Amino acid sequence: MAPIISIRDIAQYEGQEVTLRGWVYNRTDKGKLQFIQLRDGSGIAQCVAFKRDLDPEMFEIASKLTQESSVIVTGAVRRDERAPGIPGGYEVGIQTLQLIQMAEEYPITPKEHGVEFLMDHRHLWVRSSRQWAILRIRATIVREIRNWLDDHGYLLVDTPIITPAAGEDTTTLFSIDYFGEPAFLAQTGQLYNEANMAAFGKVYCFGPTFRAEKSKTRRHLMEFWMLEPEMAFFSLEDLMDMEQTFISHIVQRVLEQHPNELKILERDTRQLENVLPPFPRISYDEAVERLNRLADQTENPELREGLRIQWGTDFGSPHETAIAEMFDKPVFVYHFPSAFKAFYMQPVEGRPEVCRSVDLLAPEGYGEITGGSERIYDKELLEERVAKMGIGREAYAWYLDLRRFGSVPHAGFGLGLERTVAWICGLPHIRETIPYARMLNRKYP
Ligand code: 4AD
Ligand code: MG
Repeated sequence: MAPIISIRDIAQYEGQEVTLRGWVYNRTDKGKLQFIQLRDGSGIAQCVAFKRDLDPEMFEIASKLTQESSVIVTGAVRRDERAPGIPGGYEVGIQTLQLIQMAEEYPITPKEHGVEFLMDHRHLWVRSSRQWAILRIRATIVREIRNWLDDHGYLLVDTPIITPAAGEDTTTLFSIDYFGEPAFLAQTGQLYNEANMAAFGKVYCFGPTFRAEKSKTRRHLMEFWMLEPEMAFFSLEDLMDMEQTFISHIVQRVLEQHPNELKILERDTRQLENVLPPFPRISYDEAVERLNRLADQTENPELREGLRIQWGTDFGSPHETAIAEMFDKPVFVYHFPSAFKAFYMQPVEGRPEVCRSVDLLAPEGYGEITGGSERIYDKELLEERVAKMGIGREAYAWYLDLRRFGSVPHAGFGLGLERTVAWICGLPHIRETIPYARMLNRKYP
């Protein structure tokens, strides 16, 4: 009996007979020859049905196979430089073919389709090789995030999704009815991370987070995955040191493990090769100065006004893109105005109008991929900030407790998984970075 193999491993079976199980990605009819691109999830292999070599009934089926029909084929693996596929370079000469199901007319054909059509058929679109490449890179990013943290003394401690209080801006909460009481979907795991940090020192949580953000940009999802590390006794500088090492590790591992996928995506990898520590660091003050200086030098009035920024206002995406373009690596921007940052951020000593916060901006216009800060660890100051939140103090009583029993300086950040995938894969829109995107106008399929 021929061994059942994964197409990914095909090179190991040169000259041998193997069994492949999968789906017809494409078929080219050359009369007595049927070229079948067979997909099994691990790769794509060219399988050739030659009339002379097959039982007539089997050949009859082979010459009728529709796109996405499911089959089991057995045949000998031969080396052939020209054979297309992933990894390619090998061909299977079919000896037997078993049809599992003849697929109905498949809605996604090799011709171009509009993106809304494809998103409506996301449950099928995930089978195409571009999506295959993206979602495999996403899985590697997740794995390498966990590997690095697990290898560096961070403990995974999960945080709840149903929560009694806001973790960030109260305007983006998704409310749910919790047996007649209000509750919210987690915007962040951070507050629980802070409790876990005091128990384990260095922790992380990694799960879905939710933001009812009425924004339709190419960077926003309603449901996205966030990785959040939280570390006891870390300063803002410690945080930046850790982040640059960590982010570089992820990027370099993707480069090593996914040359085929990056090629499918036509990703220019030179920018990624450059992602190594140290990353440049500039303050918000300096960023504002640089933006206004750039605006002064810009002739086009529309671009000029898009760049100009008043101290105290948050960056829009043209600002983030312009700052990132000033550097050839991801860039840290630190000490943002407290007014538009989260309630828990530690004020800068002697200058409380700014806080010990830091965002990491990715190159090539991908914008903010991480946001973090030192946390307020003084009980009175935190009480004051919570009082301004507009949600009852009772919901935060446990969080305030953390400042009563061995409060320590600490810091952490959140990394948006989908924005990271979009950047590393070089995608124009975040919607392809998650298997089933939840957006302002979409919750199907
Ligand atoms: O900057 P944010 O809002 O930070 C926090 O939630 C902190 N509690 C994290 C922490 O310090 N533990 O979000 C962190 C990251 C952003 O930098 C961005 O990459 C991503 O999460 N993000 C989104 N990604 C996709 N869609 C959205 N609507 C996003 N909102 C934030
Ligand atoms: Mg942020």
